[in-house]
Amino acid sequence: MEVTIIEDQFILKTKVFFNNQSLQYLKKITGSRALIVSDSIMETLGYLQEVIDYLQESGITSTVFTGVRPDPDVSIIADGLKLYRESGADVLVAIGGGSAIDTAKGILYFERKFESTEGKEMPKPLFIAIPSTSGTGSEVTDFSVITSEGEKVVIIDEFIAPDIAILDSTCIQHVPQRVVADTGIDVLVHAIEAYVSTKATDFTDALCEKSIKLIFENLETFFKDSKNTQARDRVLNASCIAGMAFTNTGLGINHSLAHAFGGTFHISHGRSNALLLDAVIEFNANLGGSADGYAADRYAKLAEVLKLPARTRREGTVNFMLALKRLKKSLKVEDNIRSLGINQSEFEDALEQLAETALLDRCTPTNPRQPSKQDLIRIYQKCY
Ligand SMILES: NC(=O)c1ccc[n+]([C@@H]2O[C@H](COP(=O)([O-])OP(=O)(O)OC[C@H]3O[C@@H](n4cnc5c(N)ncnc54)[C@H](O)[C@@H]3O)[C@@H](O)[C@H]2O)c1
Ligand SMILES: [Zn+2]
Repeated sequence: MEVTIIEDQFILKTKVFFNNQSLQYLKKITGSRALIVSDSIMETLGYLQEVIDYLQESGITSTVFTGVRPDPDVSIIADGLKLYRESGADVLVAIGGGSAIDTAKGILYFERKFESTEGKEMPKPLFIAIPSTSGTGSEVTDFSVITSEGEKVVIIDEFIAPDIAILDSTCIQHVPQRVVADTGIDVLVHAIEAYVSTKATDFTDALCEKSIKLIFENLETFFKDSKNTQARDRVLNASCIAGMAFTNTGLGINHSLAHAFGGTFHISHGRSNALLLDAVIEFNANLGGSADGYAADRYAKLAEVLKLPARTRREGTVNFMLALKRLKKSLKVEDNIRSLGINQSEFEDALEQLAETALLDRCTPTNPRQPSKQDLIRIYQKCY
């Protein structure tokens, strides 16, 4: 008899603590030794010491790894892994942006692989993620993005999802304005791609709609005034909420294209996503054609969420795109890739390879419209 396996599910493995005092939750952690993974800016800003002190109050001694760099390379993971083994940690704390959290996830992922080749089952340390950008949502996802030989590789594995996320918006008050814009747009793209994903459900829709509303209502305010605690809290929440959605739905070609482009031209993840967003929506919704399929319907629903006219799928999609453009303008995001100073012939020469890489990216299968390599090249060209 054939057995049907029901795969529809919504999973959230991470316990989330939030408000601008929540870092103090570290005083209540159970464990004996911690490895803290971070980049040097967390040390400069004093957050690292706060973490060490709070853990000390729980009776936990800390070893610190501050070797994280943006878009972490496998060599950084290897350095962190060495320290992890030496430290004998039963608690792993990542404090920083997506790069720090993904480095900690990389350490977990590769250590488990090594141990399993030796026939051992790795005991998972208590994994705590404290985002200092808002953000990647990495504090609640089972995704990690690691650079290997110049290419961004997406790892997806339940084992690397944090056990605890601490959202303390005091940690994001000194984020440079450009990074606020980049990471804020990244949140939007996570929520949008999760909403139009082939794996979207009622559960993830609710999260995406809320996240998108929070970003539209608060990102510009936070961008202009990082002392506005209310806006800061809301944007950090939006980032985490979008993470809860996309860890269940996967993402789409906006991310696939951004991984390949950002990895090659060293453009930040959020900015890469921002510059590709309009052309990706146009492609997914088939605005050049009938504009009446699934993706156009979903974008039009998002227009309704923002109370924009959406009498037809095309009208809704166009109005949603216009709202996104206005928001990006207010965050001083460039209009196109050319404005970043990337040379045209260098860009053209890279296109074949970029499109091939993007096609194979782990975010592509859940995109609402399956692209060809030529489609992806055309999207890149449109964004230049
Ligand atoms: N795992 C996931 O689910 C996921 C999702 C999206 C993106 N990513 C990956 O995450 C990485 C990007 O992460 P990000 O956008 O958070 O940036 P990031 O971690 O690379 O940090 C960007 C810059 O901001 C600085 N910074 C971070 N926090 C700061 C603070 N509080 N104050 C001042 N400066 C601060 C960092 O030192 C760095 O120079 C990319 O590699 C991307 O591919 C992962
Ligand atoms: Zn992203």
